[in-house]
Amino acid sequence: MTQIREAWGSKLGFILAAAGSAVGLGNIWKFPYIAGENGGAAFIFIYLICIVIIGFPVLISEILIGRTTQRNPVGAFSMLSNSKGWISVGFLGVLAGFLILSFYSVIGGWTLGYVVETLRGSLSNFKSPEEAGVLFGRLSGNALWTLGYHTLFFFLTMFIVIRGVQGGIERSSKVMMPVLLSILVILMIRGVTLDGASEGLAFLWVPDWSKINGQAILIALGHAFFTLSLGMGAMMTYGSYMSKKDNVVSAAGQIVFLDTVIALMAGVAIFTAVFASGLNPAAGPGLIFQTLPAVFAGMTGGVYFAFLFFLLLAIAALTSAISLLEVVVAYFVDERGWNRKGAVMIFGGTIFLLGVPSALSFNLMSDVTFMGKTFFDVVDFIASNILLPFGGLMIAIFAGWVWSRSAVMEAVKEGAENFFEMNPNFETIWFIFLKFIAPVLIAIVLLNSLGIV
Ligand code: PFF
Repeated sequence: MTQIREAWGSKLGFILAAAGSAVGLGNIWKFPYIAGENGGAAFIFIYLICIVIIGFPVLISEILIGRTTQRNPVGAFSMLSNSKGWISVGFLGVLAGFLILSFYSVIGGWTLGYVVETLRGSLSNFKSPEEAGVLFGRLSGNALWTLGYHTLFFFLTMFIVIRGVQGGIERSSKVMMPVLLSILVILMIRGVTLDGASEGLAFLWVPDWSKINGQAILIALGHAFFTLSLGMGAMMTYGSYMSKKDNVVSAAGQIVFLDTVIALMAGVAIFTAVFASGLNPAAGPGLIFQTLPAVFAGMTGGVYFAFLFFLLLAIAALTSAISLLEVVVAYFVDERGWNRKGAVMIFGGTIFLLGVPSALSFNLMSDVTFMGKTFFDVVDFIASNILLPFGGLMIAIFAGWVWSRSAVMEAVKEGAENFFEMNPNFETIWFIFLKFIAPVLIAIVLLNSLGIV
């Protein structure tokens, strides 16, 4: 390999791109509704613990494996271990990238569609979530609408990735992430200044432990993976473009911080508005597409807030989608000698086609089910509930048990010598989480996903 491999222009560029991957539909669409369904504050508390004791240690490891090898997940494992078993873990990551992007783009498409619907004024007259639900059913039930916006969303994703790591991903993240944060701040201020906002805040901060059961803990743990883009090599791939002069631990800390704060801010913006309108916080996946449009319709200047909200969602989805495509592209560029453009066109195109039955799962193919699940649900289940936890488990085991501890420490200290001198206990704590706590807890989630415990 004589060609110079691509790299981030700066540490900030890496942080924004990686936070862009982490902050996605998971934070703004999924987190609020699962928190809403599982009782609010108590669930959020458990989720935060999962982020700290599992998400953070695994994230450091994933970035580190990528940074050390400067390769995609398949190349990274083959460089560090050369065993077929570990290389196939890398392959499963690439496969997960294929699968997740195919259905993620369908929901990403809806968000673009809702930006357009807001501009057309279709969202301004709802009196109840039921009316908003009727529109949602009509739009998602229309094959042309879902396929059209799936295509547009995919086109945007490919357009960015084709331009490369620095010129495409980093440059677009540097624009999109500040816009995302600004919109979120505006929406949060709007939320907390509404009459009746305090009930929404209480829902987020005052725990009701009676709602917490084993199932809620598993949902919190699974979501910790999804939201941090862990377990499939996305962070490994982004880490592979990171400079050895930068500190992996502090970078991981900043990514976790941004992802968590943004999820909580989205929670504040959404629940203050939902409670102020006297609506149901436990509306499930439709919270964003059905409950919120009704909330906005009843608010002065609601159209503008609705527009900003769906734009926020679309940006969040796009910066995550590009990281999913990059995993697949990096594999074909590094290992198979493809050029970036060819890899984006051919494999982007393939993933787009795989997304078509997912887009049709809400309309023409809604009756085609496998064990009671639509095509969309099956792909989501295999990727999010099996491949991600499995990948996360393997990464924890690899960094904790397989890769020699001295090699791990040598790698992590590059760019972070002072950090380890100033925090002498960090190594021990990190390894305890990596070797014991993370694998055991992840194994439980995985067995639960498979219906075994
Ligand atoms: N972290 C993204 C979200 O919260 O929406 C989803 C995701 C992106 C998962 C990239 C995995 C991944 F590799």
